[in-house]
Amino acid sequence: MHILHHPVEFAQHCNSIRALAQAVTFVPTMGALHRGHAELIGQACARGRCMVSIFVNPTQFNSIQDLQRYPTTLDADRSLCERLGVDAIFTPDAEALYPFPSPGHVSVTGLDSLWEGAHRPGHFQGVTTVLAKLFHLVGPCTAFFGRKDFQQWRVVQRMVDEFFFPVALEAVPCVRDLDGLALSSRNHRLTERNRQQAQAIPRALGAVAQAYTLGERRADELRRTLSSTLEGSGLSVEYAALVDPATLVPAQSQVDQPVALVAATAGSVRLIDNCWLGVDDASGLVTLATGH
Ligand code: PAF
Repeated sequence: MHILHHPVEFAQHCNSIRALAQAVTFVPTMGALHRGHAELIGQACARGRCMVSIFVNPTQFNSIQDLQRYPTTLDADRSLCERLGVDAIFTPDAEALYPFPSPGHVSVTGLDSLWEGAHRPGHFQGVTTVLAKLFHLVGPCTAFFGRKDFQQWRVVQRMVDEFFFPVALEAVPCVRDLDGLALSSRNHRLTERNRQQAQAIPRALGAVAQAYTLGERRADELRRTLSSTLEGSGLSVEYAALVDPATLVPAQSQVDQPVALVAATAGSVRLIDNCWLGVDDASGLVTLATGH
């Protein structure tokens, strides 16, 4: 497995693979890899020579504490990538990716100002800026993203379509722990009590998925189910919404295949999760919500 630090070296490596007529696949990450990443990387390795970037991107954090607290587990990340058959890891330092003191940026408008965008101003601009850089370095490829970050995935799709990046996108369903919590690099900071509180999120998504499966299509009713399960959980809920999967605007009256989005804080840990009703396999969530 190659470990590359320099952007030009990484771009040359990706070009050399395409020169052999082999497909390049790409999984961008911020490290602290868990089973959710392993799922993305496994799929990417099965589809071509897989590149994984590990870079904690400072421009997408809107709090310095959040950036400083972000875990780094490079040795473990390296072994996991090696085991999964990754071709190369790209771990640049911040100066290599942001060589100028007042950096430019790439942004998409509209989708980036709702939900996460409203609560974390500038976050998506940081994400699209770093991905624009990484996509330019990797070149034509298939890139894999987790659907846990539903809005990020939509924002990235928009960027690729709007700016004609030669990148095919694949979205991989969310991976969950046994208690239903979506895997996230932030979960290790949850205390036992916070973790119990956090379990209300998959329970709420399960309750709404169950209602949808039983035929409920009234947006207000589905919204009520989502919110009532979160009430009294001890979580501080930022939003619990039912949205149109393409535009991310709140779903109106009768809905077909909307996405339930939740963001909430347990203790000091901010968590996001979602369920795409009628599309995601929500059987595990429904079991949690109904007990059978
Ligand atoms: O989802 C993430 O881990 C990050 O937002 C990404 C896509 C690697 C960009 O820094």
